[in-house]
Amino acid sequence: MIVIETPRLILRHITNDDVNDLATIFADPVVMKFWPSTRTYQETKQTCDRILSCYEEYGFGLWATIYKADNNLIGRCGLIPQLVDGQKEVEVGYLLAKEYWGRGLATEAAIAIKNYGFQQLNFNRLISLIVPENIASQKVAMKNGMKYEKDTTHAGIQHRVYAIHKNKIV
Ligand SMILES: CC(C)(COP(=O)(O)OP(=O)(O)OC[C@H]1O[C@@H](n2cnc3c(N)ncnc32)[C@H](O)[C@@H]1OP(=O)(O)O)[C@@H](O)C(=O)NCCC(=O)NCCS
Repeated sequence: MIVIETPRLILRHITNDDVNDLATIFADPVVMKFWPSTRTYQETKQTCDRILSCYEEYGFGLWATIYKADNNLIGRCGLIPQLVDGQKEVEVGYLLAKEYWGRGLATEAAIAIKNYGFQQLNFNRLISLIVPENIASQKVAMKNGMKYEKDTTHAGIQHRVYAIHKNKIV
């Protein structure tokens, strides 16, 4: 099921057929530099199961991200329910295979996901949670119109919270 289409990308629901492609991306230590570890095939399968449960519970989640030019699955981007400092939040998240970095694709996805969250799902506020060392991700958040708001400890790790409010879009 296609959720979002941009000039260069399709964001669609993840299925069990995507586990292999995602496992290849999650096995790359460069991509996973800011996570505690890379993921095995079995761990990727568990990740996909959690994403499918998220679709059922919330009606949104992380989506398979397809590069139209070659029809490859190049990552997972989308919306993630989070609890930050005791508050329910929705995060714009993005992760791409490194062969596809540096072409503005994460920014293209993030802007479309933000617009979908505000316009289709009617959220008033969206965040991105980013470790301080992840400069590329912070640049994407800022190009998505987000502003640094505060630091928080999330999953035991210090993160910077970037946020945007619907009524503040100019
Ligand atoms: C973060 C990520 C999604 C960015 O994807 P991308 O498609 O390359 O992003 P974009 O091309 O849209 O923009 C990246 C920006 O960061 C900049 N950048 C990239 N690497 C950088 C680095 N090491 N230091 C500083 N800036 C960097 C780019 O120049 C670009 O900014 P610019 O437009 O001002 O030149 C990608 O690097 C990735 O998947 N990383 C691994 C997963 C991850 O960390 N996800 C985010 C978790 S919060």
